[in-house]
Amino acid sequence: MPPRQLPGMLCLPTMKTPCALYYFSSTGNSLAVALALAQCLDAPDPVSIPGSLVLPDPYAASREVEKVGFVFPVHRATLPEMARGFIEQMPVREDCYYFAISTHTLFGMNEFWDIDEVLSAKGALLNYAAAVRMTGNVGLLNPDFRSVERRQHLMEAQIAEIAEAINNRQENYFRRSVKLLGRLVRTFTEQRRNSIRFRVDERCTRCGVCAAVCPAQNISVGIDASQAPVRSDKCEACLACVHWCPAGALSTATRLHQHYHHPQIRPEQLNPERFNHETSDIA
Ligand SMILES: Cc1cc2nc3c(=O)[nH]c(=O)nc-3n(C[C@H](O)[C@H](O)[C@H](O)COP(=O)(O)O)c2cc1C
Ligand code: SF4
Ligand code: SF4
Repeated sequence: MPPRQLPGMLCLPTMKTPCALYYFSSTGNSLAVALALAQCLDAPDPVSIPGSLVLPDPYAASREVEKVGFVFPVHRATLPEMARGFIEQMPVREDCYYFAISTHTLFGMNEFWDIDEVLSAKGALLNYAAAVRMTGNVGLLNPDFRSVERRQHLMEAQIAEIAEAINNRQENYFRRSVKLLGRLVRTFTEQRRNSIRFRVDERCTRCGVCAAVCPAQNISVGIDASQAPVRSDKCEACLACVHWCPAGALSTATRLHQHYHHPQIRPEQLNPERFNHETSDIA
């Protein structure tokens, strides 16, 4: 297992309390944020949400701790459906401190409201929320190296501040975020998940990376060379497969995509529990 640390992160010494961090990440931004935060909070390795779903107890890390955090990308104005489902099923405690950190390109919208709604329906609360701007993964052009590096430095400074707030159990979430379009946003997302179609071109080397990074185990790489390595019946529409394809052979049927992933994250770090499972099939 590769070391799950970001190089060069500096954090202020603070009072530490036991903490569990869960993340969902398609292109590594949210994992980079979760790793930086874990370092600053002196918390155990962040736990992948898709990865934990293949474990006997997906919620083991959260059972005895005083703080539980979720780190995830904004997908279509809210949190990814798989992360929402994970929080919906999570056993919660009234006295536990819950926090949520979203990563986004332009702005979030409903993600904190939606998490708070899920938690408060079960008698808990979202205590703290923060949004971190990262290099985007929905454009047409690949971002340039300098802007990625600059964004990474800004993120590290912001995470040090966020960690301090969390260590001090700061409360900043009072249902004050904007809930716009509400149910409409989710309906659109569901339609997208059910209708996304992929195109694989002749550059495909059948390496299996797309299958290994897919959080939904939605891809299989068959023996038949003419067979597209994607099936979309369980698709989360997260585009991880498109971004991580080393040959640039994968796109959605409707448009071309940039190819981006966080420079300090490798595909095997995304969802380690699933990566081992997938790669053993590929080998
Ligand atoms: C399907 C999809 C939908 C997205 N929707 C939004 C959005 O509504 N607002 C936004 O600012 N960024 C949006 N983004 C950009 C991501 O939130 C952003 O790049 C994030 O940092 C990616 O994190 P990850 O690398 O952990 O997956 C979207 C990305 C994808 C793939
Ligand atoms: S990651 Fe790309 S090259 Fe590898 S199997 Fe998937 S589509 Fe083919
Ligand atoms: S098939 Fe691609 S877009 Fe769909 S869930 Fe898997 S990695 Fe994400």
